[in-house]
Amino acid sequence: IREQASNHVHKLMDSYPGFPSPGILFRDLTPVFADPIAFRAVIDALMHDALTADGAADVVAIAGVEARGFLLAAAGAYSAGLGVVAVRKAGKLPGDVLAQSYDLEYGTAELELHEGRLPAGSRVLLVDDLLATGGTLAAAASLVERAGYVVAGIRIVLELDGLGGRDRLTGYDVQSIAHC
Ligand code: PRP
Ligand code: ADE
Repeated sequence: IREQASNHVHKLMDSYPGFPSPGILFRDLTPVFADPIAFRAVIDALMHDALTADGAADVVAIAGVEARGFLLAAAGAYSAGLGVVAVRKAGKLPGDVLAQSYDLEYGTAELELHEGRLPAGSRVLLVDDLLATGGTLAAAASLVERAGYVVAGIRIVLELDGLGGRDRLTGYDVQSIAHC
């Protein structure tokens, strides 16, 4: 199931040298999401891995990272009958929020997560479209933990090898559908 999804990713993704800044080879997964067969295969593979992997049992919610992670979190949570929590870019969430700043391949940014949306100790699966330097997912994982939840696993559609992303996520069960 993962291999099939990986084939869709490799066949449909686009690559843009120099976007959004010089030296970056931007991997665009929107063609994968736009294709109904490929999108379903990707969501099914993401959730299959999530729900069968060691330690991923008893997940109550999926946390998606703004913006592209939202597309995956919502579809995956709906298909598995789980809730969604939104890890958002700074300044978008009202009320009591936790904030975490981080570096990414092309700059720095800040993510936020609401406090108190889930019971303490809730097991949460973290998803995003792409792992590059790992700054985004490391910050998101730290927010999930600071909110009092447990990171049950981290699921990614495309992992860029050679940028050290996985090394910043040691201790977590990290699985990617495709690599390049
Ligand atoms: C992209 C991607 C990941 C992150 C990966 O998001 O969707 O969230 O970069 O990079 P990293 O592993 O080096 O942290 P981006 O911040 O461009 O935001 P977007 O989804 O809103 O476009
Ligand atoms: N986020 C960080 N690096 C990226 C890349 N090379 N392509 C797409 N999204 C990214």
